[in-house]
Amino acid sequence: MNADIRKTKERDFESILAVINDAAGAYRGVIPADRWREPYMRRDELRQEMACGVDFWAMFDGESLLGVMGMQDKNDVSLVRHAYTITTLQGQGIGARLLHHVRSLSNKPMLIGTWAAASWAIGFYEKHGFKMVSPAEKNRLLGKYWSIPQRQVETSVVLADSAWMDTYGQEDAAQPVVGDGRQLRKPRPSRRHDQHRR
Ligand SMILES: CC(C)(COP(=O)(O)OP(=O)(O)OC[C@H]1O[C@@H](n2cnc3c(N)ncnc32)[C@H](O)[C@@H]1OP(=O)(O)O)[C@@H](O)C(=O)NCCC(=O)NCCS
Repeated sequence: MNADIRKTKERDFESILAVINDAAGAYRGVIPADRWREPYMRRDELRQEMACGVDFWAMFDGESLLGVMGMQDKNDVSLVRHAYTITTLQGQGIGARLLHHVRSLSNKPMLIGTWAAASWAIGFYEKHGFKMVSPAEKNRLLGKYWSIPQRQVETSVVLADSAWMDTYGQEDAAQPVVGDGRQLRKPRPSRRHDQHRR
């Protein structure tokens, strides 16, 4: 894939929104029903996120946007926000390249929040060295660094990089939350090497 990573510009706004709402389809039927919305991200919410300092980097193939990852600077930490690869291209390394890129932009400890039920996303971050913090620490961190409703706090997890874990979390690292019995793992597409379908 002949693609490169660039910081997004205003003209990319609609493409970012489209990628998020396409990729967020993975949550349908997985996250709690009361947290699912159609579309998942509204235009005004994305505007608000950007106004609050979420900067997006994206993988482009020419002018086509294939995946996005936001980063938000929050005092002593950096947050990875809104990481999405278009559905047909997931599992090809775009997320890994974007994560590597945004990590290279910050020397602060890095935190990521995601749905507890999004086992594939948790696996993705764990594969890149992030570890889940304990439920108590998650509640504290989501309250301190995020602006999300209480219900979202209850249904989310936080993963931290080794810089954060080394400083604050070693004894507090939690085992992954298994969930409540629903099928948590999204079936993985068996199209990893099928370039035509991606
Ligand atoms: C999570 C996400 C951003 C990762 O991006 P990506 O481009 O698929 O990531 P990569 O290809 O670099 O890594 C794939 C890894 O992610 C996981 N993964 C997540 N979704 C996957 C999918 N549909 N197909 C294959 N692997 C998937 C696997 O652990 C995989 O690891 P492996 O390659 O060792 O099998 C992307 O899958 C996505 O948009 N998912 C839906 C939305 C979401 O969960 N966003 C996270 C918000 S915090």
